[in-house]
Amino acid sequence: MLKACAIRNVKYSDLWETPDTLWNSVLPKLYTKPIRIWEPFVGVTNRSTKIFKELGHDVIETTDDFFTLTWPETADVLISNPPFSRKFEVLEKLIQLQESKTHPFMILLPSWVFASATVRTMVKKYKIDLQIVVPSMRVHYYHPETHQQVRKTAFDSVFVGYGLPVKHALTYL
Ligand SMILES: C[S@@+](CC[C@H](N)C(=O)[O-])C[C@H]1O[C@@H](n2cnc3c(N)ncnc32)[C@H](O)[C@@H]1O
Repeated sequence: MLKACAIRNVKYSDLWETPDTLWNSVLPKLYTKPIRIWEPFVGVTNRSTKIFKELGHDVIETTDDFFTLTWPETADVLISNPPFSRKFEVLEKLIQLQESKTHPFMILLPSWVFASATVRTMVKKYKIDLQIVVPSMRVHYYHPETHQQVRKTAFDSVFVGYGLPVKHALTYL
């Protein structure tokens, strides 16, 4: 784990995984039929992939550097918790991946991010209508080494998305 982390120069704080409770609470409200999810930030234990599959979805896992990848042809939506230290680059790359066809995505980020100067500038530059999906719970992440949930997260997280099956730009679940 640390080797892979060192190769990619990933920060330790980027390795915390998402609790199943979040995916279980959010995904059935958005996707009632099976979809094919692209998970490009698989994590140490593939926790998100396992739960996506348990919820009945297909998963395309990629393990190469996300920033070198193109949109997998058969993916319906990218769903992930990306490395927070690279959140702005991830969001910009996802916006740039939008071409003639919409490539929907939802990425879990600290709630302040969507209102930040960087994202405000990005939205104006690309003229993109982002969506915000607010989970009904605070997300407490899993420690990358003990694999235990640490219920001490000091911030709230939301999904920043595009092309999602929600009626409004801001959706409280
Ligand atoms: C916050 S963890 C989330 C794991 C999983 N998606 C989840 O929700 O539990 C982010 C993961 O992305 C990986 N990662 C960091 N930079 C990456 C990159 N450029 N390309 C692909 N994966 C990367 C990290 O190694 C880490 O395992």
